[in-house]
Amino acid sequence: MMQESNTASLTKNCVVTGGAGFIGSHLVERLLSDGHLVTVLDNFSTGRRKNLQEHSRLKIREVDIAEYEQISEFFVNVDWVFHLAALADIVPSIEHPLRYHRSNVDGTVSVLEAARQAGVRRFIYAASSSCYGLATEFPTPESAPIRAEYPYALTKYLAECCVMHWNQVYKLPCLSLRLINVYGPRARTTGSYGAVFGVFLAQKLAGRPYTVVGDGNQTRDFTYVSDVVDAFVQAAKSELTGEIFNVGSGRTYSINKLIELLGGEKIHIPKRPGEPECTYACISKISEALGWQPRVGFVEGVAKMLEHIDDWREAPVWDEASIDIATRQWFEHLGEKKDSRRPPEPGLCSVTTGAEAKDR
Ligand SMILES: NC(=O)c1ccc[n+]([C@@H]2O[C@H](COP(=O)([O-])OP(=O)(O)OC[C@H]3O[C@@H](n4cnc5c(N)ncnc54)[C@H](O)[C@@H]3O)[C@@H](O)[C@H]2O)c1
Repeated sequence: MMQESNTASLTKNCVVTGGAGFIGSHLVERLLSDGHLVTVLDNFSTGRRKNLQEHSRLKIREVDIAEYEQISEFFVNVDWVFHLAALADIVPSIEHPLRYHRSNVDGTVSVLEAARQAGVRRFIYAASSSCYGLATEFPTPESAPIRAEYPYALTKYLAECCVMHWNQVYKLPCLSLRLINVYGPRARTTGSYGAVFGVFLAQKLAGRPYTVVGDGNQTRDFTYVSDVVDAFVQAAKSELTGEIFNVGSGRTYSINKLIELLGGEKIHIPKRPGEPECTYACISKISEALGWQPRVGFVEGVAKMLEHIDDWREAPVWDEASIDIATRQWFEHLGEKKDSRRPPEPGLCSVTTGAEAKDR
């Protein structure tokens, strides 16, 4: 195959929606370091300007992606669109379903349409493995049943259906990456009660005990952000379209293992309905189709988080009482389903838990 001979022909014009957020800002950094031109579209609802360094090849536009008329101009002559903008916290989605639908579903349709009208060459969507809900098969393949447990999961899945629809009907060259428990520096530190790393690192800095949900034996497929960024870039470079891929670490790690690595005291708070005992994505499909593999092991990833622990200095320090208040709606709306679902069989995830597995 003929190699492209100069760097100019390899330079891509990229749009990153949600580029001021946690994962988006890492992707922007990577695209710039690979020599590409990047336009970030972000309304800064959860993203932060300080996540992005100034750069001659970077433009930042403060817009709401759901406003088609305001975003369409930014897609002209664009090669690659990475669509990451979304409201991404679970807890407030239960309280504000309309807000979530507007950003996550209407916003996605608006971005898809702008991309289609401009004839972009690749469209990569940041989907969520939360669509599997309380999965019963581990590692969970892309073909597993869809069981959205709360509005965030529902809106991310509805948007994925739209992405696949634009591919099917309009032949927009799309891929969807179902991300799972992504962690790394710049993970959101303010606002709602959410991802476990942010909660624990702020507690560690404050010398407070970690608030462990349930017994801490539940496991999560913690995936380091640079691996996720690699998956986005490889997806953009590939010629495959209309496919959905899981992006995970290839393993699953218990919360107790995380605490062992962070060091410190813990207390236990009530288990929440709708939260899985295990998240563990099957990554065979993406490994075979794109040759993508995660590279950062959990021990190395947690050590990198500890190097950046100062990022969490201004983050809210959650305790039992404030978590109780923040998750009241959760228990109110999701509580009834608690007994109607078969929990994952004990031990189903045990084969590859981080506690036992050799870290990569
Ligand atoms: N972090 C994870 O573990 C994870 C897991 C699965 C999927 N995802 C998906 O990856 C993407 C990025 O997640 P993140 O963790 O970086 O979240 P984040 O909140 O840090 O980033 C989301 C960004 O989107 C922007 N945004 C939200 N609504 C917008 C709107 N209407 N218009 C313009 N910008 C808007 C926010 O300001 C923010 O910068 C999201 O789509 C999320 O659903 C994340």
